[in-house]
Amino acid sequence: MTDSDSSNPIRLARRAERMNASVIREILKLAERPDLISMAGGLPSPHSFPIDAVREATAQVLRDTPQAALQYASSEGFGPLREWVAADLGRQGMRIDPSQVLITTGSQQGLDLLGKVLIDAGSLVAVEAPTYLGALQAFAPGEPCFASVACDEGGPIAERLGEAAGARFLYLLPNFQNPGGRCLDEPRRDAVVAAARRAGLPLIEDNPYGELWYDEPPPAPLAARWPQGTIYLGSFSKVLAPGLRVGYLVAPPAVYPKLLQAKQAADLHTPSLNQRIVHQVVRDGLLDRHLPSVRERYRAGRDAMGAALARHMPPGCRWLTPRGGMFFWIELPPGCDALALLPRAVERGVAYVPGEAFFADKPQKNCLRLSFVTVDAGQIEAGVAALAGVIDEALATTGRRLQRAAA
Ligand SMILES: Cc1ncc(COP(=O)(O)O)c(C=O)c1O
Repeated sequence: MTDSDSSNPIRLARRAERMNASVIREILKLAERPDLISMAGGLPSPHSFPIDAVREATAQVLRDTPQAALQYASSEGFGPLREWVAADLGRQGMRIDPSQVLITTGSQQGLDLLGKVLIDAGSLVAVEAPTYLGALQAFAPGEPCFASVACDEGGPIAERLGEAAGARFLYLLPNFQNPGGRCLDEPRRDAVVAAARRAGLPLIEDNPYGELWYDEPPPAPLAARWPQGTIYLGSFSKVLAPGLRVGYLVAPPAVYPKLLQAKQAADLHTPSLNQRIVHQVVRDGLLDRHLPSVRERYRAGRDAMGAALARHMPPGCRWLTPRGGMFFWIELPPGCDALALLPRAVERGVAYVPGEAFFADKPQKNCLRLSFVTVDAGQIEAGVAALAGVIDEALATTGRRLQRAAA
């Protein structure tokens, strides 16, 4: 908007310029056809929601504590839920006090609060390459300079973390990363934490997918190794239902009060009713009964997609089989541009997320993300076959162009 635009007197803040409509979302909106096989979504399967348990818990909360559930409440969150979170993380090796738990409106809000409290204009913020797009969106309005840390198939390369010294923090997803799918093993966790400590580089550990493991549970969180230097984010979105919008962060006592003030300013508190519903459900041990069936469903999707990729993808495409989470991350041969191919793929009835949006800097164009949790095995087979056809054609065209250029 310019000053000369006299019909609109509203002037945007500079930070609003950092908020961009995602090109990919725009393309995918066009792709909302009922016949389209969309492997683009980042949503959990609606078949995984424990609907009966949530219905019963809602009735019980409204029967037992209706006034408290409908009243304003404390910004820190519902006490018994904070205690449950602290005890649950204790079982995973983190020794924390419930007073360090801040209940957030989804872990996305945790990212937003961290951006507000930790980033100044021009601050260096270190991220993985690729990383979660929603975190980049949450941090960007603070006007940071993003720096991607060097990564290999095992995660951030510890020996290279010194290059990010001076950054406000390193944001990372150790468990079944979105979008990359990789999980840091125990030695890599130790090495990354040791290097971060040496460099004085605080960590933000985002863990929405840790319970979605299909082969074996992931190692203990980074926060268990360096509690004073790590802020941990968790969420009930992928284990219960994202529509509840209940997540949490765990912060060292030195930064907790500022995050709490930011939370107060943002929304006073996360809906009391939802917090109580979540607490009612989890305190009854529902997750232990419910998660095995979610893992079984998602494991079947993972296996179906792994088999379809092996059957159909042209030579030169690379991927790792994720041991958890929701996504395959595919690298196409160099020169293949996944964003440019998307309209053709949509024409053929299949959608995916091009990978370049997941890079804070130096976008890699030859990669894409496929979700295996919201489509059934038959659709996975048909969708991957169609996608492979589109890539095959693109490779043939590039090959012909190169031959012509060489002739
Ligand atoms: C890595 C990561 N972090 C955070 C979120 C936000 O989740 P929520 O706000 O629903 O807890 C998501 C959602 O997909 C995610 O993939």
